[in-house]
Amino acid sequence: MKFFVDTADVGEIRDLAQTGLLDGVTTNPSLVAKTGRDFLDVVREICQIVHGPVSAEVTATEFEPMLAEGRKLASLAKNVCVKVPLTLAGLKTCKALSDDGVQVNVTLCFSAAQAILAAKAGATFVSPFVGRLDDIGQDGMDLIADIVQIYGNYPAFRTEVLVASVRNPTHVVTAAKLGAHVATLPPNVLRQLAQHPLTDKGLAAFLADWQKTGQSILKS
Ligand code: G3P
Repeated sequence: MKFFVDTADVGEIRDLAQTGLLDGVTTNPSLVAKTGRDFLDVVREICQIVHGPVSAEVTATEFEPMLAEGRKLASLAKNVCVKVPLTLAGLKTCKALSDDGVQVNVTLCFSAAQAILAAKAGATFVSPFVGRLDDIGQDGMDLIADIVQIYGNYPAFRTEVLVASVRNPTHVVTAAKLGAHVATLPPNVLRQLAQHPLTDKGLAAFLADWQKTGQSILKS
């Protein structure tokens, strides 16, 4: 399973990239707005830090300007993955960019029907938003199960399921059990994955016992 980080905060990305656990980055207009920085500068900088796909989202809503924005974003770096919304204009843009060899992430997916369209449009990734479905009383993971099953029925579909709007480690583990290809995680969720109280407790006990020996590995 690939892990992307869902942020436009370059400091966070740099820090997490050093763990060697990052396969890519996703951004969206809300995350870019939080940084207060120039969008294109941020995308260029992220693409130098992480060499996997970096999703950068268009903001036009009609086909022609959306395609123009997508081409401009794709020209910023080889690893830009153009993010388009799951609308008919977005799907048309996805097809045009994919035919040109540009990676595309179709975002704001909330139904299996929409995910089928994204695959038919040649998307590299489809982004179902699990947390936002949970927020309205549906189980976001049911959508992941449906999409993974449907895509599995059609080997010609090359689109990867990128689980987005992830809120907690359980989302990640459930997505992995279902066979989703990618999860994009807010930085705090990525860090939470490494934590367990018994790890902390066990480590504290080992270190206390080690201190009693008076030894040092590096000085032996
Ligand atoms: O990047 C898209 C998605 O991950 C947003 O998540 O938490 O705003 O629903 P959220």
